[in-house]
Amino acid sequence: MKQRSPWQRTHTCGELNREHVGTEVVLNGWIENHRDHGQLVFVDLRDRHGVTQIVGHTETDGIGEGVFERLRKLGAEDCVSVTGRVRARDADKINKNRATGEIELLVTGLVVLGEAATPPFEILDEAEANEELRMRYRYLDLRRRPLQEALVKRARFVTAIRNYLQDQRFVDIETPILTKSSPEGARDYLVPSRVHPGKFYALPQSPQIWKQLCMVAGLDRYYQIARCFRDEDLRADRQPEFTQIDLEMSFVEEHDVLDLVEGMVVHGMREGFGVELPQPFPRFDFEQAMALYGSDKPDLRFGMELIDLSEHAKTSAFKVFQGAVETGGMVKGIAVEGAADKYSRKNIDALTAFSQGYGAKGLAWAKVTANGVEGSIARFYEGAAGQELIARMGAKPGDLLLFVADQAKVVHKALGEVRLKVAAELGLRDPKKFRCCWVLNFPMFEWNEDRQRWQYAHNPFSAPVDWDNTDFEKDPEYHRSRAYDFVMNGWELGSGSIRIHKPELQKKVFQFLGISEEEQQRNFGYMLEAYKYGGPPHGGIALGLDRMCALALGRDGIRDVIAFPKTAMAVDLMAQAPNLVSAEQMAELQIVSTAKKPDA
Ligand code: AMO
Ligand code: AMP
Repeated sequence: MKQRSPWQRTHTCGELNREHVGTEVVLNGWIENHRDHGQLVFVDLRDRHGVTQIVGHTETDGIGEGVFERLRKLGAEDCVSVTGRVRARDADKINKNRATGEIELLVTGLVVLGEAATPPFEILDEAEANEELRMRYRYLDLRRRPLQEALVKRARFVTAIRNYLQDQRFVDIETPILTKSSPEGARDYLVPSRVHPGKFYALPQSPQIWKQLCMVAGLDRYYQIARCFRDEDLRADRQPEFTQIDLEMSFVEEHDVLDLVEGMVVHGMREGFGVELPQPFPRFDFEQAMALYGSDKPDLRFGMELIDLSEHAKTSAFKVFQGAVETGGMVKGIAVEGAADKYSRKNIDALTAFSQGYGAKGLAWAKVTANGVEGSIARFYEGAAGQELIARMGAKPGDLLLFVADQAKVVHKALGEVRLKVAAELGLRDPKKFRCCWVLNFPMFEWNEDRQRWQYAHNPFSAPVDWDNTDFEKDPEYHRSRAYDFVMNGWELGSGSIRIHKPELQKKVFQFLGISEEEQQRNFGYMLEAYKYGGPPHGGIALGLDRMCALALGRDGIRDVIAFPKTAMAVDLMAQAPNLVSAEQMAELQIVSTAKKPDA
C-alpha cells in the first residue's frame, strides 16, 4: 500500500465527532473564518463535507516551531493542511447546527498548500456579491455550500437514474455532437468544417433522430444523459446547452413509457434528493387539463379547479355572463378557499388588471357570506340565484369567487394564470411539496400567427392518435398526437411521444407542414430510408435534467444546478466564450465575418 504523505488528510472536515476525541488527525481544507485573539486563534476549516473548528494556542503541547505565527497570518480561502488533536468542546460551546459541533481541533502542525489572493467576494451560503462577479469567478462561487450541495445531489440523482435504467435493460448509447440539424424548433449552433469548406455541422438540439434510428437498429431500449444545444432566447429555466435524460423504447404504447418513467422519477427523486413523490401521477387528456386548470402544465399542489358555469350563465341576470355564452364563449370560475378576508378591494383590482394582461375583459368576483354573496356581481345574484351560484362553485362562507367570461381560449389562459397567482399569494405553491402529472394527446399542429402557417406542436415525428384519419389538410385542429408531457409543480419537465414509424405517414406529415420533397430528402432522407427496412413501433421521452434538479432543490433557476452555466446573454464570463478567433483559424475554415463591429 502506498504511504500517505504527512500533509494528506486522515479525515474530512465534516467527519469528526465525540468518538474521535483524543486522536491525532490531519485535515485539508480552506480557511473560512479567521478570528485572532492574540494568544488564541480560531479558524473554521471548510471542505465540501463540512466545517471543523480549528484552535491555535501558543501553549499547545507539541505545537511545531512557528506554527502559531503562521496560523495567525492565514487569510481567507488559503488552502491548508492542519495536524492536531481532537478535543471535546465545553458544554456551552457546542454548536448544534454543525455535524462537527461537539469537537474542535487543537493545532500542532500547519502546511499552507495553496495561498489565496484576496477573494473578489466572500464565500457565503447566501451570496451577496452580484451574479456577474460570481460567474466570472465561478470556481470560487462553487465553493459555496448550496452550490456544492446541488452538484452532489445532482450527481446522486443521475447515478440513481442510470442504475434504474440499467436494471430495466436500457443501453447507454452516445450519439453524435457534430451532426446535422435536428428539428426541435430552436436555432442551431453551427460548427464550420475545415475539411469541407463552406459546410457546417450542427450541434444537436436533442438526440431525437439518433435514438429513433437506434430503434430501427434493434437496440430496443436506448438511454443517454444527453447534452443538447439550442440557440434560443434564455430565461431562468433555459440554458443554451442543457442536459436531458433521453430515452426511447421499441414495441411500446403510451402507458409502457409513462409507467417506466414514473418509476424512474420516483426512484431518482428519492435517492438523489430524499423527496417522496405521491403516486400514481394523475394522467390528464390535454383538453381536460386545459378545462380544469387552464394550463397544459397544471400545478397540482393545490386544488382550485376551474368550474364551468356556462349552462348556468345562460339564464344569469348578469349580462356579461349571458352574453359570453350566447356568442359561443363560456364562463368559468374558481373558488379560493377562505380568501374573502384576505383580498381587499385593492387586491382584487390588482388581480383584475393582472387577468386583463392575459386578455380577460374583466374579473367578476364575489365573497361568500353566511347569507349569500357580496361583491361586483352581487346585485345579479340575490337570494336563490346567489345560493345556486355558491352551490355550483362548491363554496362556503369565507371563500372568494373569481370569474372570467369570454371565448374558451381567453377564459382558460386568464383564469389559469389568476389561479396560479392567487395560489402564490396565499403560499400554496410550497417549494417543499411535489406533485407530478402527465398530460396526453396534445394537438398535432398549432397555428403560427407570425408565419401564417401550421407547424408541429411537439415534433414532426409524433404519431397521430387517429391512424385511420390522416387527412391533415381537412381539419388541422382535429388531429391529436400521441405526445405526452411530464409535469411537476406546474413546470414542464419532459415531453415525448409514440412515434411515426411508417415512411409514408411521416412524409404526409412533412408535406402538411410545408416541407418540400427535396427538403425532406435533404434533411431527413436517411431517416425515411431507414423506416423502409423494418422500422419497429416505438416511443420515448426526454426529461430536462437541469430543471428537475432545480425544482427538487427549490432553486429559482437552473444556473444553480449547473457547474459552469452561461449568462442570460449566453456568455461564459469566466472563460470568455464566445470569443473572436485568430485570422489564421478563420482563413483555414475559409470563413469571413461580416459583423460590422464584433463584440470586443
Ligand atoms: P423538448 O424540446 O420538449 O423535447 O425537451 C425536453 C425537455 O428538455 C428540457 N429543456 C430545457 N432545459 C433547459 N434549457 C433549455 N433550453 C431547454 N429546452 C428544453 C425541458 C423539456 O421538457 N426530442 C424531444 C423529446 C422526445 O420527444 O423524446 C425533445 O427534445 O425540461
Ligand atoms: P361592470 O358591469 O362593467 O361594472 O363589471 C362588473 C364586474 O364584472 C367587474 O368586476 C368586472 O371586472 C367584471 N367583468 C367585466 N367583464 C367581464 C368578463 N368578460 N368576464 C368576467 N368578468 C367581467
